[in-house]
Amino acid sequence: RTYHLAILVGSNRRESINRQLSEAMARLLPANIKVSYPQIDDLPLYNLDLEGERPASVNRFTDEIRAADGVLIVTPEHNRSLPAVLKNAIDWGSKPMGSNVWFDKPVALTGTSPGAIGTALVQQHLRQIMGILGSVVLGGEAYVQFHPELIDANGDIGPQSRDFLQGYLNRFVTLIEKLAPQ
Ligand code: FNR
Repeated sequence: RTYHLAILVGSNRRESINRQLSEAMARLLPANIKVSYPQIDDLPLYNLDLEGERPASVNRFTDEIRAADGVLIVTPEHNRSLPAVLKNAIDWGSKPMGSNVWFDKPVALTGTSPGAIGTALVQQHLRQIMGILGSVVLGGEAYVQFHPELIDANGDIGPQSRDFLQGYLNRFVTLIEKLAPQ
């Protein structure tokens, strides 16, 4: 059977290195995993006043996450934490109480940065947030320091990181297959 993986990129930058990483990682997935990239940069800033009638962009986003068998978050680190655009999307998905789209959702975390600790601290914050929201966060860690050879000219993960990221994704696919509704 096929499974749906939503890949959430925590950057709204056109040339985002995290978007590039996410697209290269998607190529490592088996053929039964269908991928989508939910858009988050058109969501309004979270405001309880909008809960009466949620904007269409918000409903589109939450429907897409609800339908996904798993969510892979590929995000940069902003000031040692989450980019606002990603936190905003997570907040929309968490409300209203009782329709939190993150609950029991398999989630895996990764991200890249030119910095030496390669997004380790944003992933720590995310692990805490997603845990509080009830997601099943894949154990282990995948911090990726960005350098030009990370992704080759064909858009594939370069040899230095390929086996590592393949192993991480394989474990996530196993988790998704275990937890997806039959
Ligand atoms: C950064 N950057 C950054 N990098 C890092 O490793 N740790 C950090 O805390 C921060 N903080 C930070 C704050 C803000 C506001 C910006 C704009 C940038 C640098 C960041 O890793 C770099 O801009 C990457 O290119 C971001 O990834 P995308 O947007 O290219 O995917």
